[in-house]
Amino acid sequence: MFANPTKTYQAPTQIAEDTFLIHDHNGEGVAPVMVPLNSLVIRGAEPTIVDTGVADNRDQYLADVFSLVDPEDIRWVFISHDDIDHTDNLTALMDAAPNATLVINWFIMERMGSTLEVPPFRWKWVSDGESFDAGDRTFHAVRPPVFDSPTTRGLYDSKTGFYWASDSFACPMLEVSATVDPIDPGFWREGMAMFHQYVSPWYAMLDDAKFQRAVDRVENLGVTAIAGCHTPGIQGGRVATAFEQIRTFASMTVPAEPGQEVLDAMLAGMMAPAA
Ligand SMILES: [Fe+2]
Ligand SMILES: [Fe+2]
Repeated sequence: MFANPTKTYQAPTQIAEDTFLIHDHNGEGVAPVMVPLNSLVIRGAEPTIVDTGVADNRDQYLADVFSLVDPEDIRWVFISHDDIDHTDNLTALMDAAPNATLVINWFIMERMGSTLEVPPFRWKWVSDGESFDAGDRTFHAVRPPVFDSPTTRGLYDSKTGFYWASDSFACPMLEVSATVDPIDPGFWREGMAMFHQYVSPWYAMLDDAKFQRAVDRVENLGVTAIAGCHTPGIQGGRVATAFEQIRTFASMTVPAEPGQEVLDAMLAGMMAPAA
């Protein structure tokens, strides 16, 4: 994706105790909706970074992270899956954080291939269903209900109840927002349905009873707040609503993915003279 020099900056926001969203997005001013591109910092006894954002935003991403935690203090860098919007600043972050261990799994290593530049002696492999200790909390790697890479694990924080959903619970934004609270409930439901069917086209083929059990597995963790790369923060009563909504998306009809006419509109906007 191209960089947008007029993008609205959104400073980090707190989503749970010790837990901060690093915000980014694309599409502003050049597409019908914006797509969040968030990542996460969890301060605690052993500070932890979750996903690393895109290269377009590297300088701001690193500045935001290091405004919350000193690079030398970062102990863990958890990558939820191998897609570029989650890994693009990984090497830069690990280079700046000499005491950090990279939490991946075997399949992330395989799929990233030579793009994984962090040496093996800095890795820890944590797969779906496994956990790791971070001093004052245990992190549980739990695959979210919807995902677009077989490597995907979400991250549940036993201390706060916060759950990082990777690509699940994704929704578009019309305005830059740190939480889903300002988003119209109807737009939120339809936007989440659309993104989930785009992210996982196999979603509509599922055995619904098995899928519901996959949602139960996450919801039964006792999740108090949610965020993900492509959703603003979900807190309070919207947590239960988010789980209700994700259970129903397979049967919903959503708009077709953007086609050539959307690209034409984006290009026209990029080439329009400045007002
Ligand atoms: Fe993804
Ligand atoms: Fe993603």
